[in-house]
Amino acid sequence: MFIAPSLLSCDFSRFGEEIARMDKAGADYMHLDIMDGHFVPNLTFGAPVIKWVRKYSDKPFDVHLMISEPLKYIDDFAEAGADIITFHVEAQSDIKETIDKVKSHGIKVGLVIKPKTPAEAVFPYLQDLDMVLVMSVEPGFGGQSFMADMLPKVTSIREEADRLGLEGFLIEIDGGIGESNIRLAKEAGVDICVAGTSVFKAEDAKAAIENLKALCE
Ligand code: DX5
Ligand code: ZN
Repeated sequence: MFIAPSLLSCDFSRFGEEIARMDKAGADYMHLDIMDGHFVPNLTFGAPVIKWVRKYSDKPFDVHLMISEPLKYIDDFAEAGADIITFHVEAQSDIKETIDKVKSHGIKVGLVIKPKTPAEAVFPYLQDLDMVLVMSVEPGFGGQSFMADMLPKVTSIREEADRLGLEGFLIEIDGGIGESNIRLAKEAGVDICVAGTSVFKAEDAKAAIENLKALCE
């Protein structure tokens, strides 16, 4: 299992150092949550901040756009150093055009579905995607409880990706992941778990990440 610590739970007065700390702790990806106060009822940061902290780790930056009209901002995030950009199928954007815009930068692209959105919403696009991100909480805030009833969506996306013969297709899950549920995520077909609270609230982030991975073996 790959672990992507969500920096939403970090000490933002030391953002760069927090990224370096997660790198040393064994993070596989850096998960960066972008919120616009419109698509979700919360605000975080934008592309210039990512540009500033990019140098603190060589791990892939997994940028989760919780914003309306993502198409307008793809160039900014790609140029700031994103390695993967995911955007919501529910956001007001031409989905195919937005996928192509991300790909034009030579980076990975994924679609995200909110808890109330069915798995089938991403099926028409699967062959154009590198990843699907399944939200296991309502997007907007860290520290919420994991919704186990999202796991069947993971399994049906995995089955559809297999049916289409997609190689290296990744499924990520985001929200409330910790030691009580990571094994279930693995069994459902998840490749990457986002973990905010469970990694940042731990006294020893390295031990927390190792423990999460060990629980999937
Ligand atoms: C929520 C964000 C998540 C969040 C995860 O909208 O997309 O990435 O930070 O945090 P935890 O693991 O605390 O649920
Ligand atoms: Zn996220």
